[in-house]
Amino acid sequence: ESSSTEEFRPLYHFTPESGWMNDPNGLIYLDGEYHLFYQHYPDSTVWGPMHWGHAVSTDLVNWESLPIALYPDSLGYIFSGSAVFDTENTSGLGTAENPPMVAIFTYHNAEEANTTSETFQSQAIAFSLDKGRTWEKYEGNPVLPNPGIRDFRDPKVSQITNTDGSKSWVMTLAVLDQINFYSSPDLKNWTLLSEFGKKIGAHGGVWECPDLLPFKSPSGEDKWVLLVSINPGGPQNGSATQYFIGDFINGEFTPDDTMIRWLDYGPDNYAGVTWSNLPSDQNRTLFIGWMSNWLYANVVPTKAWRSAMTIPRELSLFDIDGTLLLKSAPAKEMEKLRFEEFKVSKETSSLPSEAVEITAGVTDNSFLITISNELGEKLIISKENGLVSIDRRNAGKSDFNRDFAAMHSAPMSWEAKDIRIFLDASSIELFVNDGELAMTSVLFPTSPWKTVGISENLKSLKIFNLKK
Ligand code: FRU
Repeated sequence: ESSSTEEFRPLYHFTPESGWMNDPNGLIYLDGEYHLFYQHYPDSTVWGPMHWGHAVSTDLVNWESLPIALYPDSLGYIFSGSAVFDTENTSGLGTAENPPMVAIFTYHNAEEANTTSETFQSQAIAFSLDKGRTWEKYEGNPVLPNPGIRDFRDPKVSQITNTDGSKSWVMTLAVLDQINFYSSPDLKNWTLLSEFGKKIGAHGGVWECPDLLPFKSPSGEDKWVLLVSINPGGPQNGSATQYFIGDFINGEFTPDDTMIRWLDYGPDNYAGVTWSNLPSDQNRTLFIGWMSNWLYANVVPTKAWRSAMTIPRELSLFDIDGTLLLKSAPAKEMEKLRFEEFKVSKETSSLPSEAVEITAGVTDNSFLITISNELGEKLIISKENGLVSIDRRNAGKSDFNRDFAAMHSAPMSWEAKDIRIFLDASSIELFVNDGELAMTSVLFPTSPWKTVGISENLKSLKIFNLKK
């Protein structure tokens, strides 16, 4: 496809066929398939009783929708969570020959949530013995009951190798505006290890959807990164994802410093987490986020469905003047979407489709790119005076929410050398220096983008027509 058949339907970003979607859940790779589960309400395009929708892909670009994996039941809605491959059948939910895929999720009891009860969220598990096609909930649920805290959710489980070489399951859980770590030998019995976040980080909202990730720093040091989504309280209003860099030793996370860091400085990358069980030869940390913001997610002007995911991204650490930061680069698979290349020399060129990647080299540490349509709607991307900005004030429909039409800026004190821009029917993702700074924004142009205008100091501008 090269043009959208439905208004605003992305051409290469994942969207549910119909109904509501929010967070990515249960990201796991198994036998050549990337699984993407997601918060889903099939009966409406606004948030409601949560299910886990399901899709699989072999290339991170073409997604096959599968039947809903988890339905709400008498214990509650199925909120966000993760999935692991229990290779050694530690849970006993499969067999040694056919180990289970185990999903760890939050039950949200909506009826109880309407009372004065504080214990309506708990952690539970379900398992699949057929590569995620069918699921059975564990009869002993919940596996981690609520200790009396209203916000107690979004378990992300990873397998961690201890200093003595043994392995244990570690759960990273959002608890009000703090993170709790738990450990388990079998995914069924969980013990509290430690708590993190009381006096550190951004606290303008509740903490959600954490993820704990091991990395090597550029100098070869072992470091841990803790992703924490926060809503509201992000740098652009509403929801966003902050992260901490530090050590995770004996079940305790200790940050290197007190700096507040943001994964993406745009308004529309939330609740993102990473894939588990990637084969070690991939040697990467693969991330996807929900491309929306709780400020307006329920009212954006799409019809049959609501919300898309970001493009998949590879996370790594880089160093700027002695400060470690997290970089989000487009997953390498995105290059396979490049279908035709247009070399551009004129100041203004036309865009071949709604789905394009624009790349350019930056000189003078500044740039100005204007993307427009024949109605005079404009999307302006720039770096000026150390600020990278995406201006969507006049980029199409915005009357559905008074905060939507805004200019979003991010500080970038170091030099911008190149940019990659991914445009789709209703979004832009900007990567400066291949993701040293990332900004993601959704947009609803009344008519598709037609032209791109660029400042003279941009070099070797290329436009790629993207096709799945
Ligand atoms: C984040 C979130 C999670 C919760 C889910 C409910 O966007 O609020 O904390 O599990 O969405 O749909």
